[in-house]
Amino acid sequence: MGKPELHATRKSRHESGPAFQKCINPLCGATFDVSEVLTSCHRCGDLLDVEYDWDRVEVPAKLEEFERFWTQRHDPLRFSGVWRFQELIPFAPAEMLVTVGEGQTLCQRADSVADYVGVQPGNLYLQYEGMNPSGSFKDNGMCAAFSHARLTGAKRAACASTGNTSASLAMYSAVTRLLKAIIFIGSGKIAYGKLSQALEYGALTVQIAGDFDDAMQRVREVAKDLGIYLVNSINPFRLEGQKSVMFRVLEALRWEVPDWIVVPGGNLGNSSAFGKAFAELHHLGLIDRIPRLAVINAAGADTLYQLFQRRGVRWNGGQPDRTTIADYYQEMDQRNLRADTIASAIEINRPVNLMKCLRALEVCDGVVRKVTDQEILDAKAQVGSGGIGCEPASAASVAGARLLREEGVIDPAERVVCILTGHQLKDPTATVAYHTTDQDLFDEVLGQRGVRRASFANRAVAVPNELDAIIRAIQLYS
Ligand code: F0G
Repeated sequence: MGKPELHATRKSRHESGPAFQKCINPLCGATFDVSEVLTSCHRCGDLLDVEYDWDRVEVPAKLEEFERFWTQRHDPLRFSGVWRFQELIPFAPAEMLVTVGEGQTLCQRADSVADYVGVQPGNLYLQYEGMNPSGSFKDNGMCAAFSHARLTGAKRAACASTGNTSASLAMYSAVTRLLKAIIFIGSGKIAYGKLSQALEYGALTVQIAGDFDDAMQRVREVAKDLGIYLVNSINPFRLEGQKSVMFRVLEALRWEVPDWIVVPGGNLGNSSAFGKAFAELHHLGLIDRIPRLAVINAAGADTLYQLFQRRGVRWNGGQPDRTTIADYYQEMDQRNLRADTIASAIEINRPVNLMKCLRALEVCDGVVRKVTDQEILDAKAQVGSGGIGCEPASAASVAGARLLREEGVIDPAERVVCILTGHQLKDPTATVAYHTTDQDLFDEVLGQRGVRRASFANRAVAVPNELDAIIRAIQLYS
């Protein structure tokens, strides 16, 4: 019975285009048509990839050839920082692609941050994804998920979120009117900048009495029961869009491959997408080497670090040590261990893309580190003082790069790209608490998380409402 069914899948795949879905477990390897709405393999339950018969895609022979699309910016699809690379994300016909102008991001050389990290001037770049329409990297994936949802005729979309996915979903839903947005958030677990977006853009907002990991589990159940399209990064089409972050990094570096990509790790969608992007570019002969990948956990949400660095779990050709992983989660449950970090975006203990991330770490000869909330906030202040601010989770990348430099894993002469995943205005509470002179506010927001000092605080100067006093203060401090 199995064989004819497989044959039928293949046939329809060839009729519909070069893309198909495939189980990431090499022992299973089941394939499904792109038109199917799946978030895991029907046969074995593992994650799915979007794969391509590259022989049937017209891919430019060199990455430089993408530059010709720069002159076509009047076309919204070529204006998009995602779809101007559509030849590398070819799962849907152009008329199905959705864009709200995502991906107009900057890869900025940042010498002051280079100094802080400890690499030579000119060797540290910040890939600033906060410039996306909803203020985070999520838009790179959301436009792809919406395109796939459109292909399948879905009417409603849902996600669980620490805030940015929900903001992005709410925005795409409000702008395009293609899908109605339903978002699940943990109570008290979302920064106000992000919550304000979802509410204002009109998403149905379901606040679960629990944390992100609880909300993630529930949204999967609800999506299945009610047939709602899921846009979390467990959706393989979303990750296809997120590959474009790496395409733009290469573009900004004039197609030179950097030595390191450093990225915060939460649900591990980005790291998974980046690994896939480099594996495909290498397979297509468009790059001749693959950069190393560093995934940075917050110390209060460090499942990947614990499994990869401490317990030695590896992708291992698609056969990772599942017993060690299951034991770790069981231990976590027994101790009722909950994720806890000021970097609320990555406050996640059960990353849904764990397996794909392990694969990416293998492809990119990767490492995993964890950084404390103190290190995150100090790194964030350093980034912010350069004028391009970020939210706490994003700064984990810079704090991680600094740690790896201190350890000697990153060399001062290597070129490092840190991904700044979200905009500074997403979480003003953390920033204001860091710079405040109000000890109570500092203690309430940061002190209880073990943050002891604000080494790079820029404190407001309090003055009476008197002209002389104001002038004296300015003369004293400027
Ligand atoms: N940085 C920011 C600003 C994020 O919002 C997230 C994830 C991450 C990093 C982690 O990325 O999951 O690809 O490892 N935010 C998700 C959300 C979980 O719901 O907005 P990842």
